[in-house]
Amino acid sequence: MKIAIGGKGGVGKTILTALLSQAFAQSGYSVIAIDADPDGNLAAVLNFPHPEKITPISEMADLIEERTGARPGQAGSLFKLNPKVDDLPEKYSQEHNGIRLMIMGRLKTGGSGCYCPENTLLRALASHLLLGRDEVVIMDMEAGIEHLGRATAQAVDKLIIVVEPSQRSLDSAHRVAKLARDIGIKNIAVVGNKIRSPRDSEFLVSRLPGFDFIGFIPYDQAIIDADLADLSPVDASQGIKHEVQNIYRTLTATASAKVNVKG
Ligand SMILES: Nc1ncnc2c1ncn2[C@@H]1O[C@H](COP(=O)(O)OP(=O)(O)OP(=O)(O)O)[C@@H](O)[C@H]1O
Ligand SMILES: [Mg+2]
Repeated sequence: MKIAIGGKGGVGKTILTALLSQAFAQSGYSVIAIDADPDGNLAAVLNFPHPEKITPISEMADLIEERTGARPGQAGSLFKLNPKVDDLPEKYSQEHNGIRLMIMGRLKTGGSGCYCPENTLLRALASHLLLGRDEVVIMDMEAGIEHLGRATAQAVDKLIIVVEPSQRSLDSAHRVAKLARDIGIKNIAVVGNKIRSPRDSEFLVSRLPGFDFIGFIPYDQAIIDADLADLSPVDASQGIKHEVQNIYRTLTATASAKVNVKG
Protein backbone atom coordinates (compact mmCIF):
# COMPACT_ATOMS: atom_id res chain seq x y z
CA MET A 1 0.00 0.00 0.00
CA LYS A 2 1.29 3.44 -0.96
CA ILE A 3 -0.03 6.38 1.00
CA ALA A 4 0.70 10.08 0.52
CA ILE A 5 -0.25 12.59 3.20
CA GLY A 6 -0.82 16.25 2.37
CA GLY A 7 -2.54 19.35 3.69
CA LYS A 8 -1.87 22.88 4.87
CA GLY A 9 1.14 23.64 7.07
CA GLY A 10 0.67 22.69 10.69
CA VAL A 11 -2.52 20.61 10.33
CA GLY A 12 -0.92 17.40 11.62
CA LYS A 13 0.53 15.63 8.56
CA THR A 14 3.71 14.56 10.34
CA ILE A 15 2.07 13.18 13.43
CA LEU A 16 -0.39 11.23 11.29
CA THR A 17 2.46 9.90 9.12
CA ALA A 18 4.37 8.83 12.22
CA LEU A 19 1.45 7.13 13.97
CA LEU A 20 0.24 5.40 10.80
CA SER A 21 3.77 4.15 10.11
CA GLN A 22 3.85 2.73 13.64
CA ALA A 23 0.44 1.13 13.22
CA PHE A 24 1.53 -0.66 10.03
CA ALA A 25 4.91 -1.66 11.49
CA GLN A 26 3.34 -3.02 14.68
CA SER A 27 1.03 -5.17 12.59
CA GLY A 28 4.03 -6.75 10.91
CA TYR A 29 4.25 -4.79 7.66
CA SER A 30 7.58 -3.56 6.31
CA VAL A 31 7.24 0.19 6.32
CA ILE A 32 9.21 2.94 4.59
CA ALA A 33 8.30 6.37 5.89
CA ILE A 34 9.32 9.17 3.55
CA ASP A 35 9.87 12.72 4.67
CA ALA A 36 9.12 14.67 1.51
CA ASP A 37 8.56 17.97 3.28
CA PRO A 38 11.51 20.34 2.78
CA ASP A 39 11.18 21.55 6.36
CA GLY A 40 10.39 18.11 7.63
CA ASN A 41 10.78 16.79 11.14
CA LEU A 42 9.53 13.24 10.70
CA ALA A 43 12.77 11.74 12.06
CA ALA A 44 12.39 13.61 15.33
CA VAL A 45 8.68 12.80 15.63
CA LEU A 46 9.50 9.11 15.08
CA ASN A 47 12.08 9.32 17.86
CA PHE A 48 15.08 8.60 15.63
CA PRO A 49 18.34 9.23 17.47
CA HIS A 50 20.21 12.32 16.21
CA PRO A 51 17.72 13.33 13.51
CA GLU A 52 19.84 16.41 12.77
CA LYS A 53 22.63 14.16 11.50
CA ILE A 54 20.55 12.60 8.71
CA THR A 55 21.40 14.29 5.40
CA PRO A 56 18.49 14.72 3.00
CA ILE A 57 19.01 13.07 -0.40
CA SER A 58 18.66 16.46 -2.14
CA GLU A 59 21.82 17.65 -0.35
CA MET A 60 23.99 14.65 -1.28
CA ALA A 61 25.90 16.37 -4.06
CA ASP A 62 28.34 13.49 -4.62
CA LEU A 63 25.54 10.96 -4.89
CA ILE A 64 23.59 13.19 -7.27
CA GLU A 65 26.67 13.57 -9.46
CA GLU A 66 27.46 9.86 -9.32
CA ARG A 67 23.94 8.90 -10.39
CA THR A 68 23.01 11.64 -12.84
CA GLY A 69 26.41 12.64 -14.19
CA ALA A 70 26.01 16.26 -13.11
CA ARG A 71 26.61 18.15 -9.89
CA PRO A 72 23.80 20.28 -8.46
CA GLY A 73 24.20 23.89 -9.51
CA GLN A 74 26.37 23.22 -12.56
CA ALA A 75 24.64 25.35 -15.15
CA GLY A 76 24.02 23.91 -18.57
CA SER A 77 25.38 20.46 -17.82
CA LEU A 78 23.84 17.36 -19.32
CA PHE A 79 22.52 14.71 -17.00
CA LYS A 80 20.84 11.34 -17.11
CA LEU A 81 17.07 11.40 -16.97
CA ASN A 82 16.80 7.86 -15.62
CA PRO A 83 19.40 7.58 -12.86
CA LYS A 84 19.81 4.29 -11.01
CA VAL A 85 17.96 4.55 -7.70
CA ASP A 86 16.82 1.05 -6.75
CA ASP A 87 19.64 0.60 -4.22
CA LEU A 88 19.10 3.97 -2.52
CA PRO A 89 16.38 2.89 -0.04
CA GLU A 90 18.79 0.31 1.42
CA LYS A 91 21.84 2.56 1.35
CA TYR A 92 20.37 5.88 2.42
CA SER A 93 17.66 5.08 4.90
CA GLN A 94 17.78 4.73 8.66
CA GLU A 95 15.85 2.18 10.63
CA HIS A 96 14.34 2.58 14.07
CA ASN A 97 11.60 0.59 15.80
CA GLY A 98 10.85 -1.35 12.64
CA ILE A 99 10.36 1.73 10.47
CA ARG A 100 12.73 2.61 7.65
CA LEU A 101 12.99 6.34 7.08
CA MET A 102 14.18 8.30 4.05
CA ILE A 103 14.50 12.06 3.95
CA MET A 104 14.06 13.48 0.48
CA GLY A 105 14.82 17.16 1.05
CA ARG A 106 13.98 20.18 -0.99
CA LEU A 107 12.93 20.02 -4.63
CA LYS A 108 13.99 23.00 -6.68
CA THR A 109 10.93 24.78 -8.00
CA GLY A 110 10.16 27.23 -10.73
CA GLY A 111 11.57 27.92 -14.19
CA SER A 112 14.68 26.06 -15.20
CA GLY A 113 15.10 24.85 -11.60
CA CYS A 114 12.61 22.10 -12.39
CA TYR A 115 15.07 20.42 -14.75
CA CYS A 116 18.10 19.86 -12.63
CA PRO A 117 19.97 16.75 -11.56
CA GLU A 118 18.75 16.84 -7.95
CA ASN A 119 15.07 16.98 -8.95
CA THR A 120 15.62 14.23 -11.48
CA LEU A 121 17.13 12.00 -8.82
CA LEU A 122 14.38 12.78 -6.28
CA ARG A 123 11.61 12.16 -8.79
CA ALA A 124 13.20 8.90 -9.91
CA LEU A 125 13.49 7.86 -6.28
CA ALA A 126 9.87 8.76 -5.49
CA SER A 127 8.83 6.82 -8.55
CA HIS A 128 10.86 3.78 -7.51
CA LEU A 129 9.47 3.90 -3.95
CA LEU A 130 5.90 4.03 -5.20
CA LEU A 131 6.12 1.72 -8.21
CA GLY A 132 8.96 -0.63 -7.51
CA ARG A 133 8.72 -1.69 -3.86
CA ASP A 134 6.69 -4.21 -1.92
CA GLU A 135 6.76 -2.31 1.36
CA VAL A 136 4.09 -0.07 2.74
CA VAL A 137 5.25 3.42 1.78
CA ILE A 138 3.92 6.44 3.66
CA MET A 139 4.95 9.89 2.42
CA ASP A 140 4.74 13.02 4.54
CA MET A 141 4.36 15.73 1.91
CA GLU A 142 4.13 19.46 1.82
CA ALA A 143 0.79 20.85 0.68
CA GLY A 144 1.71 21.02 -2.97
CA ILE A 145 2.52 17.27 -3.31
CA GLU A 146 5.41 18.35 -5.58
CA HIS A 147 7.32 15.09 -5.50
CA LEU A 148 4.54 13.35 -7.36
CA GLY A 149 4.37 13.44 -11.10
CA ARG A 150 1.76 11.95 -13.38
CA ALA A 151 3.52 8.60 -13.63
CA THR A 152 4.04 8.15 -9.90
CA ALA A 153 0.61 9.45 -8.99
CA GLN A 154 -0.95 6.34 -10.51
CA ALA A 155 0.81 4.27 -7.88
CA VAL A 156 -0.59 6.18 -4.91
CA ASP A 157 -3.31 4.01 -3.40
CA LYS A 158 -4.53 6.76 -1.14
CA LEU A 159 -3.87 10.45 -0.78
CA ILE A 160 -4.87 11.51 2.69
CA ILE A 161 -5.54 15.22 3.05
CA VAL A 162 -5.38 16.35 6.65
CA VAL A 163 -7.62 19.25 7.63
CA GLU A 164 -8.26 21.12 10.86
CA PRO A 165 -11.30 23.24 11.65
CA SER A 166 -10.12 26.38 9.88
CA GLN A 167 -11.06 28.04 6.63
CA ARG A 168 -7.47 28.13 5.40
CA SER A 169 -6.97 24.43 5.86
CA LEU A 170 -10.17 23.82 3.88
CA ASP A 171 -9.02 26.11 1.05
CA SER A 172 -5.76 24.22 1.00
CA ALA A 173 -7.60 20.87 0.94
CA HIS A 174 -9.55 21.94 -2.14
CA ARG A 175 -6.32 23.02 -3.84
CA VAL A 176 -4.49 19.78 -3.01
CA ALA A 177 -7.46 17.70 -4.15
CA LYS A 178 -7.61 19.54 -7.47
CA LEU A 179 -3.87 19.16 -8.01
CA ALA A 180 -4.09 15.49 -7.15
CA ARG A 181 -6.97 14.85 -9.55
CA ASP A 182 -5.10 16.74 -12.27
CA ILE A 183 -2.17 14.32 -12.00
CA GLY A 184 -4.40 11.28 -11.86
CA ILE A 185 -4.78 10.41 -8.17
CA LYS A 186 -8.25 8.95 -7.80
CA ASN A 187 -8.35 7.78 -4.22
CA ILE A 188 -8.50 10.80 -1.99
CA ALA A 189 -9.47 10.59 1.67
CA VAL A 190 -9.71 13.23 4.37
CA VAL A 191 -8.76 13.11 8.04
CA GLY A 192 -10.03 15.85 10.35
CA ASN A 193 -7.51 16.71 13.07
CA LYS A 194 -7.59 18.89 16.20
CA ILE A 195 -11.29 18.17 16.70
CA ARG A 196 -12.62 19.74 19.91
CA SER A 197 -16.33 18.98 19.58
CA PRO A 198 -18.83 17.27 17.26
CA ARG A 199 -19.45 20.73 15.80
CA ASP A 200 -15.88 20.77 14.48
CA SER A 201 -16.30 17.52 12.57
CA GLU A 202 -19.73 18.59 11.28
CA PHE A 203 -18.19 21.85 10.08
CA LEU A 204 -15.47 20.00 8.16
CA VAL A 205 -17.88 17.53 6.59
CA SER A 206 -20.25 20.33 5.53
CA ARG A 207 -17.40 22.27 3.90
CA LEU A 208 -15.98 19.30 2.02
CA PRO A 209 -19.07 17.73 0.48
CA GLY A 210 -18.43 14.54 -1.44
CA PHE A 211 -15.09 13.90 0.27
CA ASP A 212 -14.40 10.57 1.95
CA PHE A 213 -13.68 11.22 5.64
CA ILE A 214 -11.79 8.28 7.17
CA GLY A 215 -11.20 9.65 10.65
CA PHE A 216 -11.45 12.47 13.14
CA ILE A 217 -8.53 12.94 15.50
CA PRO A 218 -9.28 14.74 18.75
CA TYR A 219 -7.44 17.86 19.83
CA ASP A 220 -5.22 16.94 22.76
CA GLN A 221 -3.21 19.48 24.74
CA ALA A 222 -0.81 16.65 25.70
CA ILE A 223 0.60 16.82 22.15
CA ILE A 224 1.44 20.50 22.54
CA ASP A 225 2.90 19.90 26.00
CA ALA A 226 5.11 17.09 24.66
CA ASP A 227 6.33 19.42 21.92
CA LEU A 228 7.18 22.14 24.46
CA ALA A 229 9.03 19.61 26.61
CA ASP A 230 11.03 18.50 23.56
CA LEU A 231 9.44 15.05 23.68
CA SER A 232 8.09 13.20 20.68
CA PRO A 233 4.33 13.62 20.37
CA VAL A 234 3.74 10.04 19.23
CA ASP A 235 3.52 8.63 22.75
CA ALA A 236 1.84 11.62 24.31
CA SER A 237 -1.83 10.90 23.63
CA GLN A 238 -3.65 7.58 23.86
CA GLY A 239 -6.78 9.19 22.39
CA ILE A 240 -4.93 10.18 19.23
CA LYS A 241 -3.17 6.81 18.98
CA HIS A 242 -6.51 5.06 19.26
CA GLU A 243 -8.08 7.12 16.49
CA VAL A 244 -5.10 6.55 14.18
CA GLN A 245 -5.50 2.80 14.82
CA ASN A 246 -9.07 3.15 13.56
CA ILE A 247 -7.81 4.98 10.47
CA TYR A 248 -5.26 2.19 9.94
CA ARG A 249 -8.07 -0.40 10.11
CA THR A 250 -10.19 1.55 7.64
CA LEU A 251 -7.25 1.78 5.22
CA THR A 252 -6.37 -1.92 5.42
CA ALA A 253 -10.03 -3.00 5.24
CA THR A 254 -10.59 -1.11 1.99
CA ALA A 255 -7.31 -2.47 0.61
CA SER A 256 -8.23 -6.10 1.33
CA ALA A 257 -11.76 -5.56 0.00
CA LYS A 258 -10.17 -4.44 -3.27
CA VAL A 259 -8.00 -7.58 -3.36
CA ASN A 260 -11.08 -9.75 -2.78
CA VAL A 261 -12.96 -8.12 -5.61
CA LYS A 262 -9.97 -8.52 -7.93
CA GLY A 263 -9.33 -12.08 -6.79
N1 LIG B 1 -4.59 16.41 17.58
C1 LIG B 1 -3.77 17.38 17.98
N2 LIG B 1 -3.99 18.02 19.15
C2 LIG B 1 -3.18 19.02 19.56
N3 LIG B 1 -2.12 19.45 18.87
C3 LIG B 1 -1.84 18.86 17.71
C4 LIG B 1 -2.63 17.78 17.20
N4 LIG B 1 -2.11 17.39 16.02
C5 LIG B 1 -1.03 18.16 15.81
N5 LIG B 1 -0.86 19.05 16.83
C6 LIG B 1 0.20 20.06 16.94
O1 LIG B 1 0.15 20.86 15.77
C7 LIG B 1 1.46 21.14 15.31
C8 LIG B 1 1.61 20.65 13.88
O2 LIG B 1 1.57 19.23 13.84
P1 LIG B 1 2.41 18.47 12.74
O3 LIG B 1 3.83 18.88 12.83
O4 LIG B 1 2.11 17.03 12.82
O5 LIG B 1 1.74 19.12 11.46
P2 LIG B 1 2.30 19.23 9.97
O6 LIG B 1 1.11 19.34 9.10
O7 LIG B 1 3.26 18.15 9.71
O8 LIG B 1 3.07 20.62 10.03
P3 LIG B 1 4.16 21.21 8.98
O9 LIG B 1 3.37 21.63 7.79
O10 LIG B 1 4.75 22.34 9.73
O11 LIG B 1 5.12 20.10 8.68
C9 LIG B 1 2.42 20.46 16.26
O12 LIG B 1 2.87 21.42 17.18
C10 LIG B 1 1.59 19.43 16.95
O13 LIG B 1 2.04 19.22 18.24
MG1 LIG C 1 5.23 18.19 9.07
